[in-house]
Amino acid sequence: MNRPYIICHMVTSLDGKVTGDFLFTHECAGATEIYYEINRKLRCDGFICGRVTMEGSFTGGYYPDLSEYEPVRHDLDLKMDYMLDDMTGFYAIAFDPKGRLGWKSNKIIDPDAVPGYDGAQIIEVLTEQVDERYLGYLESMEIPYIFAGKDEIDIDFALFKLKNIIGCDTLLLEGGSIINGFFQRADVIDELSLVTAPIVADKGGKPLFMNGTLSNYELVKSEIIKGNIVVNYKRKR
Ligand SMILES: NC(=O)c1ccc[n+]([C@@H]2O[C@H](COP(=O)([O-])OP(=O)(O)OC[C@H]3O[C@@H](n4cnc5c(N)ncnc54)[C@H](OP(=O)(O)O)[C@@H]3O)[C@@H](O)[C@H]2O)c1
Repeated sequence: MNRPYIICHMVTSLDGKVTGDFLFTHECAGATEIYYEINRKLRCDGFICGRVTMEGSFTGGYYPDLSEYEPVRHDLDLKMDYMLDDMTGFYAIAFDPKGRLGWKSNKIIDPDAVPGYDGAQIIEVLTEQVDERYLGYLESMEIPYIFAGKDEIDIDFALFKLKNIIGCDTLLLEGGSIINGFFQRADVIDELSLVTAPIVADKGGKPLFMNGTLSNYELVKSEIIKGNIVVNYKRKR
């Protein structure tokens, strides 16, 4: 396979939603704990999240003053990727088409929070929509970036690069709904790992896959852990 194996790992409500206040309720706390435990056990090469999730979980809306950075210009419209010499470790891969995430370090710094993410090497996946000064900022922070697409991130191309340039064999896809939908429509989700909490989401919650399409999965494993349903499915091809 010329791309990483993708495991979409998510907490859902009983009605299949993945966003909203239900995630922060007492009823969902057990599911979240199980989710992080599975996350650590899966031992993948990294995790992928959409820009909104990365902002909510890690950058908190910080954004650098781009006027302080030199633009990185590319000849002949050929957008060059930027890598570090030492690229081994666990990766935090941000699908950030316009370069809207402001990082304060090139690694996730989250020592007091959930174990498993702290120290992950950040990688930005961008499109040609990005401000060239943002590239200057990323390079000054030693944050690797890859280009995949003009307006929208081309999922197949991004995964091809993550496998062949960075060497990722297995990656977690950890939401939210919009990025999961992009991956599902591109038919690159090989496995689903879901922890369903015993709660129904409030109105406005987004589904596991935003704008999903028909596709079959085969149940591989199911368990009930402390009142939560923990299931694992593989894509039926
Ligand atoms: N239940 C769970 O396990 C779980 C896990 C993670 C997150 N969440 C929840 O999910 C919520 C956020 O989800 P969300 O669906 O709103 O957003 P999201 O999927 O986290 O991020 C969506 C954004 O990512 C960028 N993006 C991703 N793939 C792209 C592609 N192929 N082409 C172009 N842009 C792409 C776009 O950024 P731009 O907007 O910059 O264009 C897009 O708007 C949060 O509230 C969080 O709490 C839940």
